[in-house]
Amino acid sequence: MVKACIFDLDGVIVDTAVYHFKAWKRLANHLGFDFTEEENEKLKGVSRVRSLQLILEWGGVEKTTKEQSKLADLKNSWYVEMIKEMKPDEILPGAEEFLLMVRNAGLKTALGSASKNSRTILEKVGLIELFDSIIDGNNVSASKPDPEVFLKGAESLGLNPADCVVFEDAIAGVEAALAGGMKVVGIGDSANLNGANLVVAGLHEMNLDKLYKL
Ligand code: BG6
Ligand code: MG
Repeated sequence: MVKACIFDLDGVIVDTAVYHFKAWKRLANHLGFDFTEEENEKLKGVSRVRSLQLILEWGGVEKTTKEQSKLADLKNSWYVEMIKEMKPDEILPGAEEFLLMVRNAGLKTALGSASKNSRTILEKVGLIELFDSIIDGNNVSASKPDPEVFLKGAESLGLNPADCVVFEDAIAGVEAALAGGMKVVGIGDSANLNGANLVVAGLHEMNLDKLYKL
């Protein structure tokens, strides 16, 4: 029986991809090349440093580790400027309602995100109180598809992985959840989310019945 839901943030609770895209594009342009929306798609669920490395590869630019760290900080400063302005109307359809449904049913909730900005985002959109635990890029050393973020999420709630259902929009996150021994609901297009136990277009399509039937 499911005892908790662990949610990815970007693409599941809020749509921050557009802000990541604007900030990465500005950085690429600053370095003298362009960055497309198709490339941005490939960065879903990918950590900040790894995203930068991929972008530099696509742009054919080489940077030292020290330079990479400065560039990642620069991109993040632009990204933070944008997310500071986020409002509750940027919560994805059905996300708040499903979080409340799950909590009212007595289940626990956790966040399992690669982002190091997750607390800022949850505070800005007014959802931070709906999470019993927050595990994000600040708490893990291995990125998805490694299951660390979700295993730590289950542990922080005092539960076994098998008691938890993960909600994820990125294939790396679906793989991470499965590797951790959890059920996973994919958010988005089933063609891109192989292995998920169920795929829905968004949390507005979820309910307790579907959750208990997983
Ligand atoms: C993930 C996003 O949730 O967080 C990625 O899907 C992003 O695109 C990653 O790179 C890290 O986010 P941040 O906020 O720490 O730069
Ligand atoms: Mg995501």
